[in-house]
Amino acid sequence: MKPRNIAVLMILPCLALVACGDGDRAERLKAAGPNPSLDALMRVADADAGGRTFGQCLACHTIGKGELDRAGPNLHAIMGKPVAGGSARYGYTAALERIGGHWDRATMSRWLTSPQRFAPGTKMTYAGLADPLARADVIAYLEREGRSR
Ligand code: HEC
Repeated sequence: MKPRNIAVLMILPCLALVACGDGDRAERLKAAGPNPSLDALMRVADADAGGRTFGQCLACHTIGKGELDRAGPNLHAIMGKPVAGGSARYGYTAALERIGGHWDRATMSRWLTSPQRFAPGTKMTYAGLADPLARADVIAYLEREGRSR
């Protein structure tokens, strides 16, 4: 192989990293200040980064308006809706139904940290997002997506 082709092969993964990576993560965390609250994290949250993390959720969830439920309920415009109230057609567990209240930012952040701790017995078999900024990003994505259409 020509040296030039080898160089191109080495550069391509770097370009992909810049395009797909969360390059400004350190700056955003710095801007949020030490031990940031959820409010502070939401001020620096990035809905695009959240959309990429939401790729993990797509195995079980759709997000477009009117899309069908999968293993989990459709999540269109879920923010502000009652807990276990996102999809009228979906069969929620009693574990989630007995939580009550609405999906505000604080509630969503706790749920996404650990679904099993938030609602013991839930059938959402997702380990959770330990990173607070990643959770804020996903919440920003859910909010933005809910405003679309
Ligand atoms: C392995 C499948 C699976 C994955 C992955 C998954 N979920 Fe779920 N999700 C479920 C199931 C199943 C439920 C219903 C839980 C119940 O009834 O106990 C649910 C419920 C929910 C609800 C409650 C909706 C409502 O109507 O109240 C939200 C919000 C949610 N998931 C968000 C997410 C997000 C965000 C991610 C990704 C970070 C994710 N889920 C990843 C399966 C999954």
